[in-house]
Amino acid sequence: MIGTAKPGLDISITGLGCKVPDRVVTNEELSQYVDTSNEWIMERTGIRERRIAAKEEALSDLALPAARDALAQAGLTGADIDLIIVATVTPDMAFPSTGAIIADALGAKDAAAYDLSAGCTGFMYALAQAYGMLAGGLAQRALVIGGDVLSKILDWSDRSTLVLFGDGAGAVVLQAVPQQGFLAFELGADGAGGKSLWLPGSGSRFFEDPERFVKMNGREVFKFATRILVQSAEDILAKCDLSIDDVDVYIPHQANVRIIEHATRKLGVPSDRVVINVDRYGNTSSGSIPLALADALADGRLRPGQLVLMTGMGAGLTWGSALMRWTMEAAA
Ligand code: UT7
Repeated sequence: MIGTAKPGLDISITGLGCKVPDRVVTNEELSQYVDTSNEWIMERTGIRERRIAAKEEALSDLALPAARDALAQAGLTGADIDLIIVATVTPDMAFPSTGAIIADALGAKDAAAYDLSAGCTGFMYALAQAYGMLAGGLAQRALVIGGDVLSKILDWSDRSTLVLFGDGAGAVVLQAVPQQGFLAFELGADGAGGKSLWLPGSGSRFFEDPERFVKMNGREVFKFATRILVQSAEDILAKCDLSIDDVDVYIPHQANVRIIEHATRKLGVPSDRVVINVDRYGNTSSGSIPLALADALADGRLRPGQLVLMTGMGAGLTWGSALMRWTMEAAA
């Protein structure tokens, strides 16, 4: 699906926060657990290190501080929020939803709160959904959280997945603004590719013989990623009569530096407009794009008025892009 913003109603991000676990795990450390090396990981993925949650740390432990920072930046409290969407594949538990847990912790008594599952694309789906609720008048101030603690569902003896992922969460507040904010969204799913990246034992299908860890066909996901990042970006820009030259800041899903370089080369985005932090965080799934937004805002690359293109891709297989004029100043 693809759609442009509702004329006469501007909605944007007014608060942004993020949180990663304290523990840094280097490639050298991973080579103690599996047959890998810093050289292999750097050459194939560009990942130098990632953050890994402590044993007792769950998604809401990362999502809550991220949400509090986002609310503070927007000048709001939990009581002002009427919609909370948590995009994740690693909720604290299947139910209650992490959204409901967060709503309770923030005192968001009037908020609808739930989790959304769209793999690493979750944050893009959640943004679009919150936008739609606000544009339709169902909500006024939304909190959108993207985050995962994938280290809990990885097979720590499988080198083909272990080296790629990290833990982290980001949160944004969405509300109406006086100037132009979101311009368009493009979302899609191709379930035929589902088994390229899946967690078979996580639900009712393989309940009696659960396979509890992430399984992935890396080459298939790589091919999908390099194709869809380009396609989705081209489609959303065309829909808005804009070109890649108009994009000031490009934030692709932080899966792998090779995938990002392939997409940026094909699209023709100059490298100084591309945000990359997969080298420090690995692939944080739904946390990837909000963490990259927070980095770009903090280091001055993201400024009001700039055209920002974000594209996520992941399990499903799913993908999603958003195009927006940035409206928020960095915190002083
Ligand atoms: O949000 C989406 C999440 N998923 C992804 O982003 C994954 C996308 N795919 C990729 O990023 C890449 O396919 C990988 C980084 C996973 C793998 O890179 P590749 O260039 O496609 O390598 P490969 O799978 O073709 O494997 C090459 C070799 C194999 O050995 P042989 O068969 O050539 O002897 C693998 O067994 O590298 C081996 N290998 C490793 N060696 C050292 C696989 N993983 C590792 C490892 N360390 N961690």
